Amino acid sequence: MVTDEKPPKPIPKLKGIPFVGSTFDFARDPLGFLTGLQRQYDRLVQFKAVGRLITLTLTPEDAKHILQENNRNYVKSAAYDVLKMFLGNGLLNSEGDFWRRQRRLAQPAFHKQRLALLVDGMNRETTGLISQWKNRDLTGPTLVSEEMMHLALAVVTRSLFSSDVKNHLENVSESITIIIQTAYKELFNFFPFTRNWPTPRTVRYRRAVRKTEAIIYEIIESRRRQPAEIRHDDLLGMLMETRDEETGEQMTNQQLRDEVTTIFMAGHETTANALSWTFHLLATHPDITEKLREEINRVLGPDNLPTVETLRELTYTTQVIQETMRLYPPAWIFGRQPLHSDQFGDYRVEVPGADGMLICPYLLHRDPRYWENPETFDPEHFLPEQVKLRPTYAYLPFGGGPRLCIGNNFAMMEMQIVLTLLIRDFDFQPVDQKIVEPEPGITLRPKGGLRLRVQARPNTGLPVS
Ligand code: HEM
Repeated sequence: MVTDEKPPKPIPKLKGIPFVGSTFDFARDPLGFLTGLQRQYDRLVQFKAVGRLITLTLTPEDAKHILQENNRNYVKSAAYDVLKMFLGNGLLNSEGDFWRRQRRLAQPAFHKQRLALLVDGMNRETTGLISQWKNRDLTGPTLVSEEMMHLALAVVTRSLFSSDVKNHLENVSESITIIIQTAYKELFNFFPFTRNWPTPRTVRYRRAVRKTEAIIYEIIESRRRQPAEIRHDDLLGMLMETRDEETGEQMTNQQLRDEVTTIFMAGHETTANALSWTFHLLATHPDITEKLREEINRVLGPDNLPTVETLRELTYTTQVIQETMRLYPPAWIFGRQPLHSDQFGDYRVEVPGADGMLICPYLLHRDPRYWENPETFDPEHFLPEQVKLRPTYAYLPFGGGPRLCIGNNFAMMEMQIVLTLLIRDFDFQPVDQKIVEPEPGITLRPKGGLRLRVQARPNTGLPVS
């Protein structure tokens, strides 16, 4: 039979070393490697890494196609398997009907009205840090990235479990760091079967998982032992209460464990990194800090704490956060696995053959086709009239489609609160002229940690306790 259908255009493919492909180039300098590809190719490019054929997508249209329009053709990529041992079948990892049911059950807990109940806790954790800083000798540089990690962990802990478990969780942050770092290293492991071998790396990983898991089970069990009439306005309380509309079933301890662990991990590294980058950028852009302070002063005055209502008025603050996550998206890359072949304009991604598809917010957010002066930190990029001119998926710090981050409103609220309160009461300045490099892992961190000179501002803010 003769058809007039055009054959698909071949997708450009990097040569690389046999079997190894581009693994080493990618692993050595992921941002440099991918940025180089973005400069050479305009839509799709394929390369081999860890024995798999990877397709990098470079346009908002294709990101939208994968995440939204044809999302049922895609599952989370193999990279997520690495986290599975820790996160189990939580929202981030699960698929299909199970994921849909869990998402339905968890969604009400993240509704804006429910989140409003968490504002008070976020304010308390932040003012707690302010008091600590005001009572501390801040003469030397402050490791702001570590402070943000502790603060974000405290916020997510309080939001999940109220305040009654803080001492349980003291060492959990360290375990989570071990888990996240091991998971990232495993992405470049040519021999995934070695994950089951008792190497020092896997032993450390398993120990960290066991430690975190035991604490989370203990919290769930102690909550179950409490009388039913005691209600908790926290995320765990919501997740324990919620019932499936069709079956009336509630989550089992195992499901609660998986969801709580997922929220716990997904909800603090990301936010902490976004906050660190914000303080880094503000320290190097005093004009933007000043404009931000004008808004804070106008909306909050010298000593009011943010409320749900005032948070809505903090439009410039929101733009500053959005712009930070444009330049340094915490979830800088994520992947999908195609189930069947798929068409991208004149190109066709063939299955079997193609393995992972990569969507890279870091590249899309700096693409000069969609951003004027993409390398400049300029919150005006997020003026409503500018936003209207861009394709929606040119900016996707929280992903998109049905798997959009469930915690996006939570994260925005938290970042607004922390940013406004700390900027009102403290000055942040660079320690030296050194450029702070981004270090890509599962999230995008400031390499070597972010150190800034922090100084209390006179006559502002909350009283020192
Ligand atoms: C700045 C902060 C954050 C960023 C940049 C971020 C980013 C993301 C992204 C990009 C995804 C989608 C991943 C994919 O499609 O493969 C995601 C999913 C998710 N995030 Fe966030 N996140 C943030 C904060 C939070 C917070 C605070 C929570 C919880 C309190 C949270 C919980 C989750 C969960 C449970 C998922 C899986 C959702 C699903 O697949 O149904 N995240 N996040």
